[in-house]
Amino acid sequence: MKVDAMPTTWNSLLPGKFIVFDGPDGSGKSTQLRRLAQVARDARVETVEVREPGGTSIGEKIREVLLDPANGEMVTRCEMLLYMASRAQLVEERILPALARGAFVLADRFISSTLAYQGSAGGIAVRDVMAVGDIAIGGRWPDLVVIFDVDWATARSRMSRALDRMEQKDAEYHRRVREGYLDQARANPERYLVVDSTVDAERVFEAVSTGMHERLARRS
Ligand code: TMP
Repeated sequence: MKVDAMPTTWNSLLPGKFIVFDGPDGSGKSTQLRRLAQVARDARVETVEVREPGGTSIGEKIREVLLDPANGEMVTRCEMLLYMASRAQLVEERILPALARGAFVLADRFISSTLAYQGSAGGIAVRDVMAVGDIAIGGRWPDLVVIFDVDWATARSRMSRALDRMEQKDAEYHRRVREGYLDQARANPERYLVVDSTVDAERVFEAVSTGMHERLARRS
């Protein structure tokens, strides 16, 4: 059966939920996010898509600073705090109001990215990222984090454009990013769903859809 046509209950599962799509650069998460957003809208669910860093006027300015290859001297703690600053603005300006009116919020990256990039790959302790994160988001953690898992060689082969400052980091950094995501999922299997993102986009979406139904239905 085609996933979009599953006898689902998207319109009972998604309203008021906060779901994050995350994973290494080149994992295909943004394409999958747009697809799920369309499926949700087709099911008449008010859907708010946000991306990190960015998603607000202030956040987009922070994004430019973070990703500019000219800022090569940026230290990891500065990086971590800028991602969190962008996030704090996004949560208060867009995410919380949307959830309060019962919308479905779908985020392209969230604290799971900071844990993987600045934490596991960058060396900042998990408890420090979590402590700053809790302040940044005011305690509103996502209901589910979907991780699109891909190895760096496959991911890199999908990127044809010029690489930003984060993407330019070496293969070992990206290997630790991937491991960081998988560690998070192992530590918190109820809140994380890992999907193999090396297969074709149709099969990835099927896995996302089935996995989300299982997780969200179990909790509602
Ligand atoms: P994007 O390419 O998915 O828009 O993400 C921008 C880059 O920023 C990407 O390389 C991942 C990185 N990033 C972090 O290092 N930490 C974070 O907290 C976030 C949200 C993104």
